[in-house]
Amino acid sequence: MINLTVNGKTHRLDVEPDTPLLWVLRDTLDLKGAKYGCGIAQCGACTVIANGAAIRSCVTPVEALADADVLTIEGVGAKGLSKLQQAWLDHQVPQCGYCQTGQIMQATALLKDIPKPTDEEIDAGMAGNICRCGTYVRIRAAIKQAAGV
Ligand code: FES
Ligand code: FES
Repeated sequence: MINLTVNGKTHRLDVEPDTPLLWVLRDTLDLKGAKYGCGIAQCGACTVIANGAAIRSCVTPVEALADADVLTIEGVGAKGLSKLQQAWLDHQVPQCGYCQTGQIMQATALLKDIPKPTDEEIDAGMAGNICRCGTYVRIRAAIKQAAGV
């Protein structure tokens, strides 16, 4: 049994310790916001936040998060839209949408570390999150709006 805290709620789960967090989120806890893209930490679609840092949930065994505070997109929007989510809407960032929860989670972690990022810091911080629809310019604009820069 493993204790896992997600979006402020602690769950006691009967899962194999090496199960990737993404599987636990989607299949056990029915939180479908984080997406499966590559499964090898190369695309960012599965990004969530653990203890304030963006992580790739497809390659993170759930046992590594036993004492962590995990935040998913469902938690970000639980009490109304975050500044980033509103900026995403204002700039009509999503196209197919598949990568976008990962993008928002990565951006959320970025702004926590760097509240007023430069263009270069945004590009560097978001470099691991791939968007096949090419929404990078809109993502940067939305992050800048949310950051007030
Ligand atoms: S699915 Fe995790 S990084 Fe691609
Ligand atoms: S919006 Fe389609 S992959 Fe990013």
